[in-house]
Amino acid sequence: MSVPFDQMDGQIWFNGEFVDWKDAKVHVLTHGLHYASAVFEGERAYGGEIFKLREHTERLIESGRILGFTVPYGADEIDAACNELLRRQGFSDAYVRPIAWRGSESMGVAAQKNRINLAISIWQWPSYFDPEQRMKGIRLDIAEYRRPDPRTAPSKSKAAGLYMICTISKHAAEAKGYADALMLDWRGQVAEATGANIFFVKDGVVHTPTPDCFLDGITRRTVIDLAKRRGLEVQVRAIQPEELEGFSEAFLCGTAAEVTPVAEIGPYRFTPGTITRQLVEDYMAEVQPKRLAAE
Ligand SMILES: Cc1ncc(COP(=O)(O)O)c(C=O)c1O
Repeated sequence: MSVPFDQMDGQIWFNGEFVDWKDAKVHVLTHGLHYASAVFEGERAYGGEIFKLREHTERLIESGRILGFTVPYGADEIDAACNELLRRQGFSDAYVRPIAWRGSESMGVAAQKNRINLAISIWQWPSYFDPEQRMKGIRLDIAEYRRPDPRTAPSKSKAAGLYMICTISKHAAEAKGYADALMLDWRGQVAEATGANIFFVKDGVVHTPTPDCFLDGITRRTVIDLAKRRGLEVQVRAIQPEELEGFSEAFLCGTAAEVTPVAEIGPYRFTPGTITRQLVEDYMAEVQPKRLAAE
């Protein structure tokens, strides 16, 4: 058994202070816990530097704004806290998890007066998917739940509540022996996996769905840039599930997942090919700190 997450060693940045890992606690009557009034980020450090830290911090602040609250620290302070915590934790490669949530000052749906809290934790999270399976391509089920219409949920926010259907879908997929699930959107178009965006390849052209009801991932945007730098055509468009039949390659991408080839989605089969392999390599090169690359 691995050590439970509330029992690990180290420090957590909690509302402006570095506290002992085991002491970073909240009360059971926390608004964020009862009503999902929480937003978070997932970042990765490579070679001692957090990749695209400022973009993640800005998205965190924006996610809070969409939920109607102001994260009570500026982007400079949050970036400095992440960097100092990474140094204190002593990791070179690590996962960084800032989370902001409404506190426990009052209970009930309305919580305008509740304190907005911010905590940052950093731990080692080597590979999101089984490393052995990863380059062969992982297997995805097709989820029953769909990404909601943006008129029914704050889909541009990385809000905790949006992950409820992701956890249900991921559990259902794993129970059937799959690594993850592909989620369609409310219209029935291809959307994303439970914690990563999706790409396809056909005849040398890269295709990815328009992020109009799911997270426009920072990794997704990086991969689009990398593909264009390789001279590849990238089509960002609505993708229908029937089209899966015609794609030769598929891969997921996200901060945690990095670039992960996909071999199966329900009845459809894909072969991790040259474009996927190239983008896996290009992404791993891109995330390395520029100071290391220059050495
Ligand atoms: C649901 C979901 N989609 C997409 C992504 C990819 O976002 P990013 O590349 O910004 O990490 C994530 C997070 O990693 C996610 O949780």
